[in-house]
Amino acid sequence: MKGIFITIEGGDGSGKSTQIDLLMSYFSEHGFNVLLTREPGGTPISEKIREVILDSSHMEMANMTEVLLYAAARAQHVAEFIKPNIEQGKVVICDRFVDSSVVYQGYARGVGIDAVEKINSYATLGLLPDLTILLDLPPDLGLSRKKNQQALDRLELASDAFHLKVNEGYRLLAKRHQSRILTVDATNSIETIHQIILEAIKPLLSL
Ligand code: TMP
Repeated sequence: MKGIFITIEGGDGSGKSTQIDLLMSYFSEHGFNVLLTREPGGTPISEKIREVILDSSHMEMANMTEVLLYAAARAQHVAEFIKPNIEQGKVVICDRFVDSSVVYQGYARGVGIDAVEKINSYATLGLLPDLTILLDLPPDLGLSRKKNQQALDRLELASDAFHLKVNEGYRLLAKRHQSRILTVDATNSIETIHQIILEAIKPLLSL
């Protein structure tokens, strides 16, 4: 069987972790060899790059530095972890992928969607997810959830206007890639969202 590559996207606090846990349980209970990973991160080198990117003392980081660090972490992640596991027939679930860079850096930071897509097509050697689940939540709701949870990292500390742009960017991207990106209204209950996601992955399981 060919492996499956699923990515989960959404603004900060959109409920990705909860849905990822439920999806992981579903695949495990149905006998799939499933692996969970995340970006930025997923390999020792990429996790080190993650620390540099998210360090809240690095407020002076230039936008292009940010783009290239994410892409560098991703290149290592694809080469060392994602691609080999998909080739071995496994299900790989990744918490964020290229779409996050296109939205956060390309659109919200203003580096440019096309530039960020191009840089990332080098980094990933053109690898695209079979399915991307986008949890769509109004940004004020997402952030207030996060603020109740923990200390915020450098990106979560960005202005409300930035998070609004993130939301707008995701919606735009979902329109551009309708066959790959499934948008789910994240104001639904946890169980409803899970069922919508299961319906969307069923066609992939018979590949
Ligand atoms: P997380 O909180 O989902 O682990 O993500 C960490 C932060 O990194 C989050 O604010 C989104 C941001 N991010 C980007 O800006 N670009 C990217 O390419 C990725 C993967 C994450």
